[in-house]
Amino acid sequence: MLKEVIAGLTSTPKTLPSKYFYDQRGSELFDDITELEEYYPTRTERAILKKYVDEIESQLGQNILLIEPGSGSSEKTKILLKRMSNIGCYMPMDISGDYLLKVAEQLQQEFPHIEIKPLSIDYTQPFKLPDDSPNARRVVFYPGSTIGNFKRDKVDQFLKVIYHLVKDGGAFLIGVDLKKDISVLEAAYNDKKGVTAAFNKNILSHINSVIHSNFDATLFEHKSIWNEDKGRIEMHLFAKESHEVQVNGTTISFEEGESVHTENSHKYTLEGFAQLVSKWFEVKKVWTDENQYFSLQYLVPK
Ligand code: AVJ
Repeated sequence: MLKEVIAGLTSTPKTLPSKYFYDQRGSELFDDITELEEYYPTRTERAILKKYVDEIESQLGQNILLIEPGSGSSEKTKILLKRMSNIGCYMPMDISGDYLLKVAEQLQQEFPHIEIKPLSIDYTQPFKLPDDSPNARRVVFYPGSTIGNFKRDKVDQFLKVIYHLVKDGGAFLIGVDLKKDISVLEAAYNDKKGVTAAFNKNILSHINSVIHSNFDATLFEHKSIWNEDKGRIEMHLFAKESHEVQVNGTTISFEEGESVHTENSHKYTLEGFAQLVSKWFEVKKVWTDENQYFSLQYLVPK
């Protein structure tokens, strides 16, 4: 963390890696975000999954090994596990091993007829499934439009990893957030209650608690901005006044109004996303909501 934080804060403009939002408090704040009126992605994706679960089931075919990178609480996946009869094995994957095992245990109790096989790994690096994995159709499930957080070069790296996992007759089921009215997008990331602001500032408290640094979150203001050029929502923390922060002996100076860029959340058109994945995957089927706010997409390897 120290290396990444120093690298981010000594570059121009200043950045911090968005993965550091998620300590215990950050995860709780994100859960709160998903219930905000303005934050449409979670509830829209859940509604799509519920409405089209039968179609999804027939699209996936028989005898499925369902693999979920970054599974967290597996909340959305439960919709599939509950209502689809073709999943023989579910493999949740997460870096946080303790939490993963706890969730897996609960899932095994709730779904005794499905083999639950947790894998504690960093899925952004190439990996292989364990040798004793069931011989079934591999389907990778990646909800939440988390792909939108990756920079272009990382998207390609990620798609390549997934491609190699499913290339022998498998598939990729992915949640993709769509471009829409800027007012809707900016409201979703600048909510009235200030939960997103607290979530964004929490990255500073998290960093303070892990490395030797003295960020004062009250000296920063949260703001999310739509970047039309890049097609993404950017979260920033703007310094309210000029001041200095000590990071393990390195002094970082902030000018008044200077930003720390903490997150990107890319949004796509259906054509743009098909193009983005086209080196590795073909889009076979797209499910969306009535507003076309969000999409669930069924991709097959090329
Ligand atoms: C969990 C990464 C999908 O980009 O919408 C929510 C994170 N950031 N509000 C998103 C987030 C601010 C979220 N993802």
